[in-house]
Amino acid sequence: MMQTGQFLLFLILPVVSETCCVGTYQMKVPVAAAGHLHYRAVEGENFMMPCIQSTQNNLWFRTGGHGPVEDNTSFGCGEVFTADVKHSGQYVCVKSGSKLFLHLQVVERSSLRCFQPEEGSVELLNNVGGSILCPGHNCSDNRDVTWYKGNVSVSELRRDFCVKDGQLLLCEVKGKYDNGLYFCDRRVEEEGITWTFRRAVKVTVVAHITASHPPRMVYPFANMTEKVEMGQPHNLTCEVFFPYEKNLKANVQWFVNYGGNKELMTSLEMSGSQLRSDILEEYRIIQRGIIQEVTPQHLNHTYTCFANNTAGNVSVTVGLEEKVKWPSLVVYPVSSVLLVVVVGVIVYLMRLELQIIYRSHFHCGRHDEDEKMFDVFLSYVWSPEKEANFYINTEEEEEEEENTEEEEEEDEVSQRSLSLLLHQVLEGEWGYRLCLPERDIIPGGAYTKDIVLALQKSQMLICLLSAHYFCSSNAVFVLESGIQALLKNSGLKLLLIRTRRDSASMFQEAQLPSLVQRSLKVLPSLMWTGDQPDRVSCNFWRSLRKNMPKYQVKMK
Ligand SMILES: *[C@@H]1O[C@H](CO)[C@@H](O)[C@H](O)[C@H]1NC(C)=O
Ligand SMILES: *[C@@H]1O[C@H](CO)[C@@H](O)[C@H](O)[C@H]1NC(C)=O
Ligand SMILES: *[C@@H]1O[C@H](CO)[C@@H](O)[C@H](O)[C@H]1NC(C)=O
Ligand SMILES: *[C@@H]1O[C@H](CO)[C@@H](O)[C@H](O)[C@H]1NC(C)=O
Ligand SMILES: *[C@@H]1O[C@H](CO)[C@@H](O)[C@H](O)[C@H]1NC(C)=O
Ligand SMILES: *[C@@H]1O[C@H](CO)[C@@H](O)[C@H](O)[C@H]1NC(C)=O
Ligand SMILES: *[C@@H]1O[C@H](CO)[C@@H](O)[C@H](O)[C@H]1NC(C)=O
Ligand SMILES: *[C@@H]1O[C@H](CO)[C@@H](O)[C@H](O)[C@H]1NC(C)=O
Repeated sequence: MMQTGQFLLFLILPVVSETCCVGTYQMKVPVAAAGHLHYRAVEGENFMMPCIQSTQNNLWFRTGGHGPVEDNTSFGCGEVFTADVKHSGQYVCVKSGSKLFLHLQVVERSSLRCFQPEEGSVELLNNVGGSILCPGHNCSDNRDVTWYKGNVSVSELRRDFCVKDGQLLLCEVKGKYDNGLYFCDRRVEEEGITWTFRRAVKVTVVAHITASHPPRMVYPFANMTEKVEMGQPHNLTCEVFFPYEKNLKANVQWFVNYGGNKELMTSLEMSGSQLRSDILEEYRIIQRGIIQEVTPQHLNHTYTCFANNTAGNVSVTVGLEEKVKWPSLVVYPVSSVLLVVVVGVIVYLMRLELQIIYRSHFHCGRHDEDEKMFDVFLSYVWSPEKEANFYINTEEEEEEEENTEEEEEEDEVSQRSLSLLLHQVLEGEWGYRLCLPERDIIPGGAYTKDIVLALQKSQMLICLLSAHYFCSSNAVFVLESGIQALLKNSGLKLLLIRTRRDSASMFQEAQLPSLVQRSLKVLPSLMWTGDQPDRVSCNFWRSLRKNMPKYQVKMK
């Protein structure tokens, strides 16, 4: 039996000793359900109307008599305002159909028996127990005091606390939860009326009551030098953090050291700001020392920022150094030379592309139409077997192509129909004189010579690009010769017609001459989208027409 009792004691004791004042939680006081409420406030103090549960909007309207009519003054529950004598009067709150009245009486400070303004705020140390006194504690009956934090009863806050002799005891203060405005309600019976006398206390949680350690300087750093400009004003900046103390005794100053002497500098002071929101832990103070105009003498001195509080001091000394300024007379010529060099390099690297773009867009070659036999040299490649005479294929390539043949079949059809269509439109409808190599170049001659000649006699070269086109050395030769003619400014216009599957990757695969590869990126081209709606293909033909030579020598 003894052992069991001791065991139980051990179980209970730690619990009791860890929590403060167990068992004396404040009871939630129900607000008078019916009739009138009477509240008393002190002028100049923060005040808040009580919150009534199950009301529609929790608004208290001032009323002259029996309804919220004459006056438009209203206070929401949870709304903090500074009580003024003029706020005294009758208020009404509509509660589920019925009306609840509140009589507010704002009393002057001078009418109170013991009014001390410092009772309206309290600083509590973080992480330890703290107590909050209801103002007027020494001259009041403290038997019936109810505490609220804002509009919430402290019993609903889930904090360990108790109310002892009217004062609120918090078991462990935490800045995160306990900062804020508190209200204590005393019940006062007067002439048969029960008044609720509401007072406010502002609670601030702090890290220390007095300075715990010397200040720490975050700027300047030890042994650094500041860059200054000759003849200009300069501000030396000192940034210091001070540990919180109720009556801050912070001191930050700049000194200039002449040899062994120290002299206080003129300074600009800046107010400090708090570092943390939950707990007042540190203050930041920035102090500036002014140098009206930097002279060479200033570079010979050192400058010390000194900061101290009751706990100690800290100081850092810095030197000055002249800022190296690039004179504009040097900077501008250097940067313009650099710019010219950069542009020059780009032009050099891209000269081929730039030349092609220039020649294609400013077609300024010789326009001797008399010398030209053809308007358009149309270069295209049909599928391998059809071009036996025009397309030379190695066996390996053929094998590779068999795999993709099915996929390309559809493309092939559209290719072929496009080349036929082009032939028909250019020659039949628009009346251009076409040069088709398989038709107009007599077989048996020297192929390359014939092509160059035919190109010389043409005003324009249109290449219908496709995968097969890039695999055909003859076709690529035509394209290359065309590009060379364009570069020689021989009056030849070049236009590429691309199909959907003719993507950039194709040029790389086919290991084209670098002249062709580079030109393909910049030569004017049209996209043939194949079996698209009429509107799209209509755009294609319109663009093609625009790109054609402007004059037609021989109309049909
Ligand atoms: C009520 O509000 C109106 C403006 O909204 C103002 O002119 C009037 O003075 C107010 N009445 C009182 C009694 O404050
Ligand atoms: C407390 O006040 C807030 C506004 O500050 C309000 O939203 C809330 O509903 C009030 N609480 C009660 C219980 O009425
Ligand atoms: C209340 O009385 C105590 C002593 O009884 C005193 O130490 C304290 O300063 C008084 N407080 C105020 C606010 O007058
Ligand atoms: C600053 O310079 C002094 C001597 O010039 C030296 O003793 C000290 O260690 C230096 N401090 C730092 C932080 O470098
Ligand atoms: C120095 O500080 C003052 C006040 O902040 C400012 O008006 C002035 O422009 C500053 N001077 C320089 C050179 O930064
Ligand atoms: C700076 O000090 C050096 C000696 O330490 C001295 O020779 C020089 O004249 C001084 N310069 C100025 C501008 O005072
Ligand atoms: C800071 O230092 C100065 C000079 O040593 C001293 O006069 C002043 O009292 C000190 N301030 C504090 C808060 O200790
Ligand atoms: C700064 O603090 C040190 C001790 O840390 C003390 O010896 C010295 O006198 C203080 N300096 C000033 C100017 O107060």
